[in-house]
This record gives sequence, structure tokens and C-alpha cells, in this order.
Amino acid sequence: MEILGLALDELRRTRTSIKWHAYPADVLPVWVAEMDARPCPDVVSAVTAAVTRGDTGYADVRGFAEAFADFAARRWAWQPDPATVLSVPDVMIGAAELIRVLTPPEGAVVLSPPCYDAFHGFVDAVGRRPVHAPLTADHRLDPDALARAFADAGPGSVYLLCNPQNPTGTVHTAAELVGLAELADAHGVQVISDEIHAPLVRPGVTFTPYLTLPEAAGGISLVSASKAWNLAGLKAALAVPGPACTLLSQVHPTITHGANHIAVQAQQAAFAHGEAWLDQLLGEIDDRRALFGQLLATHLPGVRMAPAEATYLAWLDCAALDLADPAAAFLARGRVAVTGGQRYAPDAGQWVRVNLATSAEVLTEAVRRMAAAVD
Ligand SMILES: Cc1ncc(COP(=O)(O)O)c(C=O)c1O
Repeated sequence: MEILGLALDELRRTRTSIKWHAYPADVLPVWVAEMDARPCPDVVSAVTAAVTRGDTGYADVRGFAEAFADFAARRWAWQPDPATVLSVPDVMIGAAELIRVLTPPEGAVVLSPPCYDAFHGFVDAVGRRPVHAPLTADHRLDPDALARAFADAGPGSVYLLCNPQNPTGTVHTAAELVGLAELADAHGVQVISDEIHAPLVRPGVTFTPYLTLPEAAGGISLVSASKAWNLAGLKAALAVPGPACTLLSQVHPTITHGANHIAVQAQQAAFAHGEAWLDQLLGEIDDRRALFGQLLATHLPGVRMAPAEATYLAWLDCAALDLADPAAAFLARGRVAVTGGQRYAPDAGQWVRVNLATSAEVLTEAVRRMAAAVD
């Protein structure tokens, strides 16, 4: 049975999450990064069994850390030491807390837009100065922009890497990451690598975990099963220190004891037993990306999709449509909710992000509505 095969009327009837309720009922939602997926059976069993036996106490995260380390070893030949790994309530709370303890109050955080919109929001929330090192026009890390931004941010600042990158789907290469690590080191900048989308790398594409690079040994990675197994409502994440990083001891226990025990058990089951489900999902996402490309070519030939190597997100250049605000036009005239590009980068107002992790039926209808909006 297809993981992404749920019918639109069933989704409307059964989903209670924000994706399906933030907009009026006549709007088709292909915006926020949650999937219209059937759940992974091993996760369902783990959660159901835990609740049924009353195993609803505080979290012991050792099994979660071990399951992640084994998954990383199988998938990417990376074996982080589970004994050094800390849990955090979720990836962004972990990122915000790390930024808070690792940078001074007047400190800076370097970001590479277009990047996950909450990166901008959380830097603002912790009161740090954002410094931008934009990706190149073809969505790669830009060494010159990074060097300029690190010089501006100064020693003691943080670089928040999105690896792979939301919304562009870029998988940073080992060479690019070595360049980043060397530059960060030379400028005294601490790298935090958000690798939440790492299990969603397309089949055949090589993902390089940041901490597998000797040059990155002082870095920190944040990982979670929440994107790849659609567990945003079961929040938990892990902070993984590089072999030469001792900074996690600065994170207060109020944060490291904040993971939810049911979420920990769900995510542990995903990493330990959910790989076949994940592989099926990756095949279906690839099919959806191909279908979406064909639908765009037929109905919206001016719109260009960035060639993503990861995530279930499509990053679309809508400049040829000549609209003041493409996302607003799609919503107002087409009744389809996508995410406007300015949320990811100040100069990306002509771009939109579309969530492809849904049925062929929903995607077909989404493109029909987008095309109707520009007729
Ligand atoms: C790059 C990135 N990091 C973090 C998150 C959110 O993770 P969490 O809910 O664990 O904070 C997302 C959600 O889409 C994301 O795309």
C-alpha cells in the first residue's frame, strides 16, 4: 500500500494538524513540512504498546541515542558515540539553546538563506544578530559569502548549517563542508549542523554527515526522526557532539531532560526498525517529484523547479509569472496554500515552496489550482 496514497477526502476528514486547519476548508494545503503519509507500522506499535502498558514516565534516551547511532552507521558509515549524545526537546529548541549558551548576548548567528524559516525566527527569539551568507544562484554554499559573513559575525559566533537544505533540497558535498569547516575554524565560528532532513536524501545521492569530516570535529549536529517519519507531533531530537567538542556540557539539564518519553520511543522505533518504510517513502517521493515536474511543464511551463537531491519539498522560481506575490496569488485566486519564498530569504519573494509528500491526486489538484490562479 502506498505511504503517500491517502485520498483527499480522507485527509480532510481525519487530519487535525495545522496543515489541514490553518486555512479555510476550500483551500488545498501543500505548505508546512508535514507529510500526508500513512504511519510507519513499527512506530505505531511502539507508541501503542508504551501507552497501553502505562510506560509514560520521564524519558531515558539511551536506547534512542543507540538506535540513531546504529542507523547512522548503516546508512552513512557514521558511528557517533551514543554515550556523548544528549537529548533535546526538538531540533529548534536544541538549536536555540546551543546558540544561547555558545554566543554572547551581543553575538551573531550566520545563516545561508534561503533556509528553513524558523532559523530566522529562532535567531530573533534568542536576541542574536543575524548575518547572512546567501547560497549561490544554483543553491550551493558560497565560500566568498561565508568568509565575508564570518568576518562580520566575528569569533564566538555560530553558523547554523541546514544539511540537507530546506527549502532548496541541496545536499552539501564533502568538499563544500570541508571548506565550510576550515573557514569556520579560521574565524573562530562554531558550526551547528541541523541534519533533520538527512534520512530524506534521494536514492543514489551521497549524504555527508558534517561530523564525519575530520575538519569538523569541533562541530555539533542536531538530528531527529521527525521529518523523515512524519513525527512532528512526537517531538524529540538529539544533539551529537563532534569528537573534539566538549561544549554540550554547557547545555542546562532543563533542556536535556525535556524530551517526551513517548516521542523518544516513537523515534527510537523509527531509527531501529523503520528503514524499509523509509526506503519505500523515498521511492514514492521521487515519483511525486517526477509527476510534479511533468504537471508544471504542462500547466505552468514558466515555473522552474530547483533540482533537489533531498527533502520532499519543491522550491519553485515563479518570476516568469510576473506576479507581485506568487504565494498570495495562488492562495487568493487558486485556493491553494504554498509557502512564500520571502519566509526563507529576504530576496526570494518570487519563489514558493511546495510540499510534495502527498498523493498524486492532491499534487495534480494543486498544480491545477496554481495554473488557474494565473490564467
Ligand atoms: C531544517 C529544519 N530544522 C528543524 C525543523 C523542525 O524540527 P523540530 O520540530 O524538531 O524543531 C524543520 C521542520 O521543517 C526543518 O526543516
